[in-house]
Amino acid sequence: MSRPVAMVTGAARGIGLGCAQALARQGFDIVIADVLATAEAQTSITDLGAAALGVHCDITRDDQRQAALAAVRERFGRLDCLVNNAGVAPKVRADILEAGEESYDFVMGINVKGPYFLTQVVARWMIEQAQAGLEGFRSIINIASISSYTASPARGEYCLSKAAVSMATKLWAARLAEYGINVYEIRPGIIATDMTSVVKEKYDKLIDEGLTPIRRWGSPQDIGQAVAACAGGALGFSTGQVIDVDGGFHMRVL
Ligand code: NAI
Repeated sequence: MSRPVAMVTGAARGIGLGCAQALARQGFDIVIADVLATAEAQTSITDLGAAALGVHCDITRDDQRQAALAAVRERFGRLDCLVNNAGVAPKVRADILEAGEESYDFVMGINVKGPYFLTQVVARWMIEQAQAGLEGFRSIINIASISSYTASPARGEYCLSKAAVSMATKLWAARLAEYGINVYEIRPGIIATDMTSVVKEKYDKLIDEGLTPIRRWGSPQDIGQAVAACAGGALGFSTGQVIDVDGGFHMRVL
């Protein structure tokens, strides 16, 4: 039997790359879908002994989603796991009393609409594979955020987008269970990547002051390990499940 294949969006760097590397260690061949160049990321995957395919894919574009999947079909002929990781923060943090429509459309387009329609085409193909009797544990994993439930009025569009991702987890979990496709949601806390480099000092201070019970930044590897556990079938009787990977941020502590 051929090795299982996982496609990770936004895997050229950051959390997506951490997920791709963890999945490669778990035994998956990897598809890196990104708008950035993927050569370095591909090398880091092949160094782990897995096959890597880099595809240029802007997840907001239907033609590029279709082309990416066609490339995966041609190279691997199967897809067992999709990690919807690609996402953006607003280019400028703006109070919700001031924030404009352009930023709203930018964030919602990439964080919500793109993954929604990518999941749709991937799910159709996974159903086809299940109906053809191809063995394997199939999963779709959404990278949401603590912003799914935490109100930050200086980036309302981001919080709305991540709350929507959380509903997408439930919708797809409910719809796909009958085909043996499990859907999971990872909610990262404060993770050291390019996205958060602009607010490093602010978060350093908050973490020092005890914002998170585990007083450190999270890493892309922390998220990757949780994703690999889900994709490997360790939670086979769970679907629509949210996994907080946030140093305990989600707890109320008195
Ligand atoms: P990052 O900015 O370092 O990486 C994002 C990746 O997505 C980049 O490679 C980028 O090129 C790609 N991307 C952006 N737009 C794209 C598009 N239209 N099509 C395809 N790829 C696209 O960000 P980071 O921190 O690695 O974030 C990854 C995910 O994790 C995002 O969904 C983010 O919202 C989420 N997250 C991050 C947290 C953090 O503290 N860094 C916390 C909670 C969630």
